[in-house]
Amino acid sequence: MTIDTTIKDLLANQAMPKQVKIVEVGPRDGLQNEVPLGLEDKLGLKDKVALINSLSQTGLTVIESGSFVSPKWVPQMAGSAEIYGLINQINGISYPALTPNMKGYELAKQAGVKEVAIFGAASESFSQKNINCSIAESLQRFEPIMQQAKLDGIKVRGYVSCVLGCPYEGDIDVSKVAEVAKTLYRMGCYEISLGDTIGVGTPAKAQAMLAEVAKQVPMEHLAIHFHDTYGQALANIYACLQLGVSVIDSAVAGLGGCPYAKGASGNVATEDVVYMLNGLNIEHGVDLTKLAQTGAEICKALGKVSNSKVANALLASS
Ligand code: HMG
Ligand code: MG
Repeated sequence: MTIDTTIKDLLANQAMPKQVKIVEVGPRDGLQNEVPLGLEDKLGLKDKVALINSLSQTGLTVIESGSFVSPKWVPQMAGSAEIYGLINQINGISYPALTPNMKGYELAKQAGVKEVAIFGAASESFSQKNINCSIAESLQRFEPIMQQAKLDGIKVRGYVSCVLGCPYEGDIDVSKVAEVAKTLYRMGCYEISLGDTIGVGTPAKAQAMLAEVAKQVPMEHLAIHFHDTYGQALANIYACLQLGVSVIDSAVAGLGGCPYAKGASGNVATEDVVYMLNGLNIEHGVDLTKLAQTGAEICKALGKVSNSKVANALLASS
């Protein structure tokens, strides 16, 4: 494979960031897929609130905490409004929620949410399965959210799913990823998160995708969101850090998956990301010990072993 000149240029000119922002998505992306359908109440509201409150004590500055989507589609997120009423929101921490349409936006606003995320895809089939409309229709639905959010002073983040592959279509053209990312950015999203929804990416592909998107959206407005299905997430993150990206999505204990991407495993574990960043001397502001304790608590509530190798190693050595 010939290395794209853009990647060569970025590698030559771009130092690793000195500091990164970690966007914790465990309470949303994680929990939306941890509890099997029909057993949603296995994990009580109390456990979810305890998770978010505990994450708030770790130094994280963004904790995605809920999703205002149809409860018929994703019953696991049905209690999001109550959650926002019960958590202790700390100054300086943002607690965004996903909103697929105006109905979700209004419900989120009523619940006191101060930052929302809209989510599109680079794959037509995934868009249909996930939000029941085409990519173009989804972008149209986001327009009124952007307009209202501007009036309300609510920040909007944008997601692009399936950036390195789709469970229904297979390979995805990087130009499609760049096009959707550019549209969301131009609409006013302050940050675009590039989601490897099914965790099929590898470092060279991740770099090629990121370099292509960075031609359309400034690198400082891009985030990376890797699921770890094939165990490539940390390698992909390292490869993308080399190109200068400085926002990383991850989930404590590697919780989760995606309800509309069968077989997709959880996001990369926040503990593993933090441990790697410590080794690279990249600042992130997160206390690994507190984070691992939080991960252990939610795993206990779920009755599962953590997906974080670092958390398991720390536990074994304590
Ligand atoms: P639809 O069925 O086409 O919607 O679903 P509709 O407008 O026809 O409404 C149908 C019913 O849903 C109506 O209720 C609406 O009121 C209700 P009914 O009359 O039947 O009783 N409804 C809602 N209820 C609550 N909140 C709402 C809402 N909207 C409509 N916001 C819809 C379209 C988008 C609603 C549906 O497809 C949906 O909720 N999808 C969400 C799927 C989802 O949450 N997926 C997971 C998140 S994405 C992800 O994980 C990827 C990411 O992590 C990045 C990555 O990894 O790549 C972000
Ligand atoms: Mg995800």
